[in-house]
Amino acid sequence: MARTLIRNGTVVSPSGSWAADVLVDGEHIAGLFEPSSVEALGITADRTIDAAGRYVIPGGVDVHTHMQLPMGPTFSSDTFETGTIAAAWGGVTTIIDFASQQVGEQVMDGLEARHAEAAGNCAIDYAFHQTIGGVDEESLLAIRQLVEREGVTSIKLFMAYPGAYYSDDGQILRAMQVAGNLGVMTMMHAENGIAIDVLRAQAIAKGDTDPVFHGLTRPPELEGEATHRAVQLAKVAGDAPLYIVHLSASDALEEVARARHRGQNVFAETCPQYLWLSLEEHLAQPGFEGAKWVCSTPLRSSHEHHQRDLWTGLKNDDLAVVSTDHCPFCMKDQKELGIGDFTAIPNGIGGVEHRMELMYQGVVNGEITLERWVETCCTTPARLFGMHPQKGEILPGADADIVIWDPTSTTTIGINDKHHMSMDHSAFEGFVVDGRVETVMSRGKILVENDQFVGTVGHGKFLKRGLSSELR
Ligand code: URP
Ligand code: ZN
Ligand code: ZN
Repeated sequence: MARTLIRNGTVVSPSGSWAADVLVDGEHIAGLFEPSSVEALGITADRTIDAAGRYVIPGGVDVHTHMQLPMGPTFSSDTFETGTIAAAWGGVTTIIDFASQQVGEQVMDGLEARHAEAAGNCAIDYAFHQTIGGVDEESLLAIRQLVEREGVTSIKLFMAYPGAYYSDDGQILRAMQVAGNLGVMTMMHAENGIAIDVLRAQAIAKGDTDPVFHGLTRPPELEGEATHRAVQLAKVAGDAPLYIVHLSASDALEEVARARHRGQNVFAETCPQYLWLSLEEHLAQPGFEGAKWVCSTPLRSSHEHHQRDLWTGLKNDDLAVVSTDHCPFCMKDQKELGIGDFTAIPNGIGGVEHRMELMYQGVVNGEITLERWVETCCTTPARLFGMHPQKGEILPGADADIVIWDPTSTTTIGINDKHHMSMDHSAFEGFVVDGRVETVMSRGKILVENDQFVGTVGHGKFLKRGLSSELR
């Protein structure tokens, strides 16, 4: 088994940052040592990496991605292969993607199909949440099997997308009761899809077909209302663990904060697009350009205070996680499906490669601490979804998923700069951010170094997850 010693770096964890040498033995972290101590100087290794002046952080954990996701007549443009290579370029060593079930389908068939798509095709480790789009007796029974046999310990429900994945309040309550009893996390896409459909139809009837109307017909109030309902249903279900995905609006954040402050097991994630992009500057770009930024929940208005509130929420832990909701589509032949009708634009933004970079800029700007960066992007996601301490923290015995981060360098994001996702544009085109992913290691194997991807497709393993270790 190869041994690698990472010397002279600053190890960052949620509880602090300190100078330490990290010894990797095979696939695991063997120990942390005080630099230049007798113990450290006595270590023999096959390879030594000098990390002086660098941060040594856990590999990123992105718990919300959609590789090759079917959407209408098309699929999100990253396959498990291209998407996990791009993730590695971004310092991410674990993703959780989704298996799905819809009305009339068997949950286990959806899971098996997703396994077949991912197995042997991933460059980094991966797990699945299970979307349940058809809550009925059969799908509810399958939840126990998901946890006990399959290592799938989270389900996802939708209050949006009527006619596709939508669940009504009764279905949500029943699913939460079953999930809660098993300790399973219910993830929720919280937007009032019934009301949104009325606004969408009214906009189209008026000839308001440009991409900006995607945002204008999904107002923050309808995210806040759905979040409130989800929180109350989880409470009625006996404090069933609830995780709100892609939270973008202050209205929703207030509901989550209220629930958390009264001690309910409610958690939420936001995504870099909601922290850095806006309805006016991006979605409202002239012509069809705004289609690049069509995602749900939508980008919010910079005339309101959503972004400010989200940064504060991250700082004070009302927002526990930053994920990407990586769901890329090319403009050509994909987003273009919605020219003349914003409702036909495939929903999604690609960002799996840039989360660590964009959030590190939050550290440099003084929005969050270095430790909070690691906590929200690595440790808490792993804890919330039953992967800690194997993933998410640099600890003896943990998987050797390690990123060496150069804080003295910068990264230019853009289609002709740093861009490895399979899409013909970047949502963050032209962003120049501080810091750079220098070296990426997954289970002791180097994936990225010297600006080269040196990993292998097929290295990534499926992770059977335990229950959340964040519940109160
Ligand atoms: O626009 C988005 N978010 N696309 C992916 C599907 C979802 O709702 O998460
Ligand atoms: Zn969603
Ligand atoms: Zn999503």
